[in-house]
Amino acid sequence: MAENEFVVTPWEVSGEIDYEKLITRFGTQKIDDALKERIKKDFGELHFMIERDLIFSHRDLIEYLEAFEKKEPIYLYTGRGPSGKIHLGHMIPLMFTKWLQDMTGATLLFQFTDDEKFLFKDKLSRKETLDYAYENMLDVIALGFKPENTKFIIDTQNAKTMYPLSLEVAKKLTLSTAKAVFGFENHTNVGSIYFTSMQTVPAMLPTIIEGKPTRVLIPCAIDQDPHFRVTRDIIPKLGYPKPALIHSKMMPSLRVAGKMSASDEESAIYTTDSEETVNKKVARAFTGGRATLEEQKKLGGNPDICSVCAYFKFFFEPNTQKLEKRLNAYRKGKVMDGENKQELAKRINKFLKQHQAKREKARSKLKKYLFKDIVV
Ligand code: TYM
Repeated sequence: MAENEFVVTPWEVSGEIDYEKLITRFGTQKIDDALKERIKKDFGELHFMIERDLIFSHRDLIEYLEAFEKKEPIYLYTGRGPSGKIHLGHMIPLMFTKWLQDMTGATLLFQFTDDEKFLFKDKLSRKETLDYAYENMLDVIALGFKPENTKFIIDTQNAKTMYPLSLEVAKKLTLSTAKAVFGFENHTNVGSIYFTSMQTVPAMLPTIIEGKPTRVLIPCAIDQDPHFRVTRDIIPKLGYPKPALIHSKMMPSLRVAGKMSASDEESAIYTTDSEETVNKKVARAFTGGRATLEEQKKLGGNPDICSVCAYFKFFFEPNTQKLEKRLNAYRKGKVMDGENKQELAKRINKFLKQHQAKREKARSKLKKYLFKDIVV
């Protein structure tokens, strides 16, 4: 990999991501000031993630807002690949989706791609990915989504709905397109090549459910965008509107630049981590500090490369003024790493304590969220 090069695909995120370049590479649109104003006008408020450009890019968001303004039926669609426990990075699009749902009142279709994780992960069995799907659902419910307007689709369990529609997509998807979009090779298993057809289906369902063309917005981190390029290319040919997208940046690892990796337990904080584990992980986190305390006091720290600062920015300091103050103090050498880490660990533990309690309560409610198959 050349210096400054980075990779962003649904299955690999590495290197230091240049998000401006990514917008050009993927052909998406930047969320500019005019669009921020429009969102604020429509919803009456602006989420801090949009304000800070953590939610930074989109496709056809304006058309979706128009449908909202005209009070047409609109849907949200997002998902999770259940390959393990949920980490704080996964929570970014989830929390943002909750805000979008609160603002729009839209029904959310939430896909659990247990098939994907079985196909792409050598070590996971079908049972394990399905078990993780049910475990991950608890985290979604804990964020406050309601069963009245939130439906969980599990690819293998809702095969009656998913499979026939994915066939329609697969028939229009050539091997050369799949190779060009995802970089598949001759040794890639054929299930993996088929899989993107399954991730397209929930973008078709609102039109089927409503019985008329219905707009869908897909909040996700930018790594999932390649799937939806395929979706947007194919489903209009089948009579469905193109879904709109809204993309978040990737919350960095606690250790190095890039996506948090499920195989490196230290690189992420999981929603089920204990207080002790959180303290340990934060203590070992990569920072923008200097070699010695004296140097840091004199020269200041670098918040732009500091994972602790990033955690405040993405998640644990929703007040933008307070965030700026904290980052400036760090930059000027007035706040040291130890202090920052202690404060971060305190906030993470406070959040997790509440989340874990809600997560356990969610077990008894889970059935109410499951999608009931429809005739397709
Ligand atoms: P998965 O399980 O890899 O990720 C779930 C969601 O979390 C986002 N994400 C992150 N966001 C911020 N920072 C990070 N470090 C980070 N890591 C992951 C992902 O972009 C995603 O939004 N194939 C999908 C499941 C899926 C889906 C969808 C996702 C099916 N349909 C529709 C979004 C929208 C997957 O494996 O996601």
